[in-house]
Amino acid sequence: MSRRIADVKRENEIGANVSLRGWVHRLRKQKEKTFIILRDERGDIIQAVCPSNLTKKLTIESSVEITGRLEKDDRAIEGGYELKVNKITIFNIAATDYPIGEYQSDEILLDYRHLTLRTRKFISIGKLRGSLLKYSRHWFDKEDWMEVTPPLLVKGAVEGGATLFEVKYFDNIAYLSQSSQLYLEAMIYSLGPVWTISPSFRAERSRTVRHLAEFTHLEAEIPWIGLPDLLSIQENLIYYIITMIKTYNQKELNFLSKDALKRLEKISPPFERISYGKAIDILRSLDCKIMDQDGKERNIEWGDDLSTESERELTKDRTNPIFITEYPLKIKPFYVKQNPSDENTGLAVDLLAPYGFGEISGGGIREDNLSVLKNKIRQSNLKIDDYLWYLDLRKYGSIPHGGFGLGIERFLRWILNFDDIKDVTLFPRTMSRILP
Ligand code: 4AD
Ligand code: MG
Repeated sequence: MSRRIADVKRENEIGANVSLRGWVHRLRKQKEKTFIILRDERGDIIQAVCPSNLTKKLTIESSVEITGRLEKDDRAIEGGYELKVNKITIFNIAATDYPIGEYQSDEILLDYRHLTLRTRKFISIGKLRGSLLKYSRHWFDKEDWMEVTPPLLVKGAVEGGATLFEVKYFDNIAYLSQSSQLYLEAMIYSLGPVWTISPSFRAERSRTVRHLAEFTHLEAEIPWIGLPDLLSIQENLIYYIITMIKTYNQKELNFLSKDALKRLEKISPPFERISYGKAIDILRSLDCKIMDQDGKERNIEWGDDLSTESERELTKDRTNPIFITEYPLKIKPFYVKQNPSDENTGLAVDLLAPYGFGEISGGGIREDNLSVLKNKIRQSNLKIDDYLWYLDLRKYGSIPHGGFGLGIERFLRWILNFDDIKDVTLFPRTMSRILP
């Protein structure tokens, strides 16, 4: 029977005869002996040495089963094990023009992402992504939230009309969901606190290192909640995920980034809460500028949205994330609840990651007043007919409630200290890329 490399190493079966299945990751042919690094389906590797008469046809990425005796060899990579092979069964001899090697341009690695996934870097990224999703699920499970799967074909915008993807829906048109929020809101009336990890779609026309056209969105919504408790929930969730990752994913973290683990060690709750107004004061005191629509530079003023540069200024010298609260209503979507103590601001909150990374999550308390919400929808140039069902939630038993959305790729980009969001995404979709 074929075994996993990790199990064979863990059980330290020195001297035993074992069979391992996988792919030829590296190959060095000599006259008598051939050295193979075999990679199994979990991305673990082991060194193997074979008589060269068995390996004549072998190429990089050929799929094989190798059988032999496990020996200890301290010079061998990854744990000092070596398999002395006496039999090779071939499943497939890979074509000799395998395009992924030691040195490749970023573009080639993106064009062949379906094969790039077999590199040690992307194996580690894939494992870390999987772990992050698993720990999120752990947290919601232990806190007794219900997981739901909202529809992704929808009629209404959540985050503004400019980034909607239109799709033909039978004889009509629909859009790809920008956020599950409105549907999660409908669910809290009968399912209590709910959450989902679903794709969200944004037709982002800008090419940036933090925007994708399709991203993995962790969203949560909870009844009977105010802003302070909503922030604590986010803080607890994020700190739990980080604690789990720094405990159980050290191998991937250390392989991918030299200071990721060190940075994660420095994170400790509570995360500072800063009002938008105070953030603007800080930016003004730092003499930060903003580009006007006509391309002229000017001082930042109350009412300006926080740009990528502003978020970088606010977070670059920090080691902990920060919450920015109470944004001006006019720069946030229609559903944000007006601040009872200030009519110009809303109970919205963004979580900004440190070291200049900026926004990783957005959310807040939702407008629960029917007529206020109706007006906001109209003022936002949205078709009221598409939101009648949503307004029913305020018409029949409206309650205070709120939630948030966390971008999984943004979160990973920050954790790994990577520059480009495409590097933490297995199959990135951007304005210029939908293949592979
Ligand atoms: O700030 P956003 O647009 O907020 C919402 O969608 C709310 N409806 C969520 C909610 O309250 N349920 O998006 C939330 C998060 C952002 O903070 C960011 O991390 C991520 O989603 N995000 C993107 N990630 C990658 N590419 C994009 N184009 C993204 N747009 C948003
Ligand atoms: Mg946002």
